[in-house]
Amino acid sequence: MIMSFQVALEVSWAARGSATLDRLSRREEEPPYAGSRPLVCVWCEGRSAVAMRVNESTVLLGPRVRLVPYRRAHVLRYNQWMQDPELLELTCSTPLTLEQEIQNQRSWHADPLKLTFILCARDDDDGGAIPDDLTSGMCGDVNAFLSEIDDDDDDETSVSAELEIMIAEPAQRRRGLARTALQMFIAYLLERVPRVGRLVVKVTDANVPSLRLFESLGFTVHKPMPIFQQTELRLSVASARARGWGALSREVSCVVPPEGEGQA
Ligand SMILES: CC(C)(COP(=O)(O)OP(=O)(O)OC[C@H]1O[C@@H](n2cnc3c(N)ncnc32)[C@H](O)[C@@H]1OP(=O)(O)O)[C@@H](O)C(=O)NCCC(=O)NCCS
Repeated sequence: MIMSFQVALEVSWAARGSATLDRLSRREEEPPYAGSRPLVCVWCEGRSAVAMRVNESTVLLGPRVRLVPYRRAHVLRYNQWMQDPELLELTCSTPLTLEQEIQNQRSWHADPLKLTFILCARDDDDGGAIPDDLTSGMCGDVNAFLSEIDDDDDDETSVSAELEIMIAEPAQRRRGLARTALQMFIAYLLERVPRVGRLVVKVTDANVPSLRLFESLGFTVHKPMPIFQQTELRLSVASARARGWGALSREVSCVVPPEGEGQA
């Protein structure tokens, strides 16, 4: 079965200029689809905060890749992946119980400073249809953690986005999925999240695949972090925009609300 989808994206930057973080918290108590559209963005006290909900009903379709919102249905597989010692080390993660992972998914869903998609491998001859089962082809994730840039006086460029990506299924590696997903994700981030002025990734020095991946996208070394045995790489927003990655993917707005998690 195929879900019904509304191709035109109708995300509105609700309450911009007037909402407060307090309002964002209260929003958590409202039904997820109260009113015409979900609240996706607040602007508070000169600082921007974008709810994870900006993408709660967004699917991005690109070549061989489908990015879908992280939902409860993905948690079991995600938790299984994150028991693997190698993946834990490469992603600097700690193992969680399934219950903790469920709580994580709920809190990420509402977190104003996180943006996460589950990465699915797609068949390019799927005609652009989205499977009813959003876990179909699930093989990794891509996300960003947002933070204020405190060494920058310019309010127009004051949000840093720290990126992470994982192709958890070994059989899906070296197929170009991570590179394509990052291109799609960065383009979406720059389009939907206000005031992003910095794209950052911190990679463990021994993680050659990840270093090569980000270098292949134009990221350059910003600084070594020897204490953590990591390197910080950056890509300027201007450079990312100039690459035209937005043309790679198409946004599809899912009109079917997330089930059983909206109040989280
Ligand atoms: C790093 C990772 C995301 C790469 O995903 P992937 O889908 O296999 O990467 P792609 O196929 O898109 O490769 C893109 C580029 O990355 C580099 N790359 C990817 N895997 C590589 C490897 N094993 N060795 C060397 N370079 C590699 C290459 O430059 C490649 O371009 P090419 O195929 O044209 O040579 C994946 O290996 C992974 O999830 N590893 C575990 C988790 C992790 O390390 N996450 C990153 C944390 S910062």
